[in-house]
Amino acid sequence: MKVLTYGATGVQGAPVARRLLESDHEVRVLVRDPSQAGSLSAAGAEVVAGNLDDRDSIFAATSGVDAVFFHLPLVFDRDTGISYARNVIDAASEAGVQLLVYNTSGPVPSEATGILHYDLKRDIESYCREVGLPTIVLRPIGIYMEVLHETGVHASMANRGTLAYPTPAAHRVSWITVEDLAAMAVAALERPDLAGSAFEVGGPDPLTGDELAEKLSAALGYPITYCPVPSKEFAEGLRSVVGDQVAGIVGDSFHLVEESPPDYLAVENAEAIAGEFGVKLTPIDDWAATRDWMSRAADSSR
Ligand SMILES: NC(=O)c1ccc[n+]([C@@H]2O[C@H](COP(=O)([O-])OP(=O)(O)OC[C@H]3O[C@@H](n4cnc5c(N)ncnc54)[C@H](OP(=O)(O)O)[C@@H]3O)[C@@H](O)[C@H]2O)c1
Repeated sequence: MKVLTYGATGVQGAPVARRLLESDHEVRVLVRDPSQAGSLSAAGAEVVAGNLDDRDSIFAATSGVDAVFFHLPLVFDRDTGISYARNVIDAASEAGVQLLVYNTSGPVPSEATGILHYDLKRDIESYCREVGLPTIVLRPIGIYMEVLHETGVHASMANRGTLAYPTPAAHRVSWITVEDLAAMAVAALERPDLAGSAFEVGGPDPLTGDELAEKLSAALGYPITYCPVPSKEFAEGLRSVVGDQVAGIVGDSFHLVEESPPDYLAVENAEAIAGEFGVKLTPIDDWAATRDWMSRAADSSR
């Protein structure tokens, strides 16, 4: 099978491209800058230059593929997000692909929220249905474990012994690794019989803040406590690091979580759903045990 993979230089798309290549599929990746895709090319991917804002490049990249993996990169206005997604979906429709696997990269509320980041994901799902494109939607409800390894989050653990994060302490979160999500995406690409379905996916154990801190303490080798940070304060702290727009999106997203029931980011039957795709989910202890926290600590102290 020949699969077009978007975002293959990013955190979420890279493991999908790698796993497809390992499964002996043909992989075409659309990248904005092919000079940054040397490792993908060396691994056997066909690298094509394009941009989600360039409809012609998307149609050209989709020609001749059997299936497509897509997730939306961060965007800051509705028109941009919708036009990116329409380019992908229209091109896949015209090319007659047998399946599009769409990773929403987060929860998709049942009702419109007025928050761009969430509502866009719903609008894209609707558009797939509207055009009749065979689609499997994967909605990761929990948060990616990988964010816990990012410098800022880790700095607070290493320097202050606190895991400062914007989910209320009592909220249960189904932390999931991008590798497990990628494994499900690759399995989904091989399941055209599931077209028309949407799956809420997550890690194996929904954890409260204290439970998360306890598991990470074991991997880090020193005790940490969970310190919930109000979404507004968390976003303020991020502004100087990631800029106003990204901090605004993070603040809005976590404000919705604060206002939602404590199980908003929890998936109760995650293992059964992953099992449908033949994937055994990685517990956070196992993931954390394989991270290099020592060099992260060195980065954090610089
Ligand atoms: N649930 C969670 O825990 C979690 C965590 C992090 C992010 N997210 C969500 O995941 C989504 C994507 O985040 P991210 O951007 O950080 O993901 P990412 O997978 O790390 O990277 C985005 C990818 O999209 C590509 N890209 C960006 N703009 C493009 C364009 N105009 N045309 C073609 N390719 C383009 C980038 O390629 P280049 O190499 O060209 O830059 C990169 O490969 C967001 O909705 C975000 O909120 C969720």
